[in-house]
Amino acid sequence: MELQGKRIVLGVTGGIAAYKAAELVRLLGKQGAEVQVAMTEGATHFVTTTTFQALSGKPVFTDQWDARMPNAMAHIDLSRQADLILVAPASADFMARIANGLAGDLLATMVLARECPLLVAPAMNLQMWENPATQRNVTQLLADGVHLLGPASGEQACGEVGAGRMLEPEEILEEVLAFLSPKLLAGKSVLITAGPTFEAIDPVRGITNLSSGRMGYAVARAARQAGAKVTLVSGPVGFCSPQGVDRISVRSALEMYAAVMARAAESDIFIGVAAVADYRVANAAEHKLKKDTGGIPPIELVENPDILAEVAALKDGPFCVGFAAESRNLEEYAQTKRRKKNIPLIAGNLIQDGFGGDDNRLVLFDETGNYPLAPASKSVLARQLIEHIATLTGEN
Ligand code: PMT
Repeated sequence: MELQGKRIVLGVTGGIAAYKAAELVRLLGKQGAEVQVAMTEGATHFVTTTTFQALSGKPVFTDQWDARMPNAMAHIDLSRQADLILVAPASADFMARIANGLAGDLLATMVLARECPLLVAPAMNLQMWENPATQRNVTQLLADGVHLLGPASGEQACGEVGAGRMLEPEEILEEVLAFLSPKLLAGKSVLITAGPTFEAIDPVRGITNLSSGRMGYAVARAARQAGAKVTLVSGPVGFCSPQGVDRISVRSALEMYAAVMARAAESDIFIGVAAVADYRVANAAEHKLKKDTGGIPPIELVENPDILAEVAALKDGPFCVGFAAESRNLEEYAQTKRRKKNIPLIAGNLIQDGFGGDDNRLVLFDETGNYPLAPASKSVLARQLIEHIATLTGEN
């Protein structure tokens, strides 16, 4: 519930992407936000107020003269109660109106009367987006301190391909979370590893482990939300890149090592969340191993480089954070790993808690002692880890 207690006015304007705003209401609500929907008249041609009322659990406002507000000041009351106004989708017409301070309907009036931040997710046809008039309005809105989310490029409802498509609801949610998070790592560059590695035995078989990448991706999102520039070196996982994060996909430990070492020196913080294979196959077969060629094929293992230890050994290298997954003796083994790798902080988790699921239990071990965190989702724990890192690096 990352938006618990937040009041968000979601403005919906006329465009086919209005149907995606319904999912956005659901996603914001799932994170604990109280969502008040206000629609332009145009938006009601695409989606009914009933849809938004059912999803938000609140009456939807469309009319400046709505009699439900006892003081007849819906525009003031609704916008003053909000922590932020998010307009998604924002049509070219709506952007033009608010860029010029026009207040011809309830939503535009709320925008003009607001005291809170305004986030706008444009959605329009490619030519409309590229039109000099729209670009002038965009420049004006940015100059006025309005935050633009997107637009994305891709296939549009009209069949054309290009810039102007609204960000997906999940991406908009990510942007809202990032916007509202304290910027504990502003200006920092953070390098993170996540997921498993895959060590080939032959072209179709290999040695890997059960890391899903969830913990590492949650740490990447939390670091980005804290204002850092994040690079995520990811082993093979089934997730899309987190919004605003630069992802480098690798397969083996050696590939992960090369990707990390190429970037470590210019990073401020390195967080090794990946479950890296300690060994790789020295005699990986070029062709698929055949069962009937006599005997069990021998697999020879050689040690992989310890990425975290090598980054920690760099002169003037980044602040290093490790992870340790243990089946027992968590404190003893995690602290031993921390000292052996010569790193200031390690996050320990039990194997049965850490691998795979959405939740975890972490204990943070640093030079001053142990900090057990309450069991929680990996997103919540990732944020607490980032707060601890910010404290240790003097950013908090
Ligand atoms: O991906 P999930 O399903 O969400 O699961 C998350 C997790 C359980 C994988 C994660 O929370 C975790 O604990 N990751 C570390 C796993 C581990 O036990 O690593 P290790 O003990 O092998 O290594 C200790 C540290 O050194 C880790 O930071 C690891 O990234 C790093 N390491 C290890 C070996 C190696 N060759 N290079 C490394 O950098």
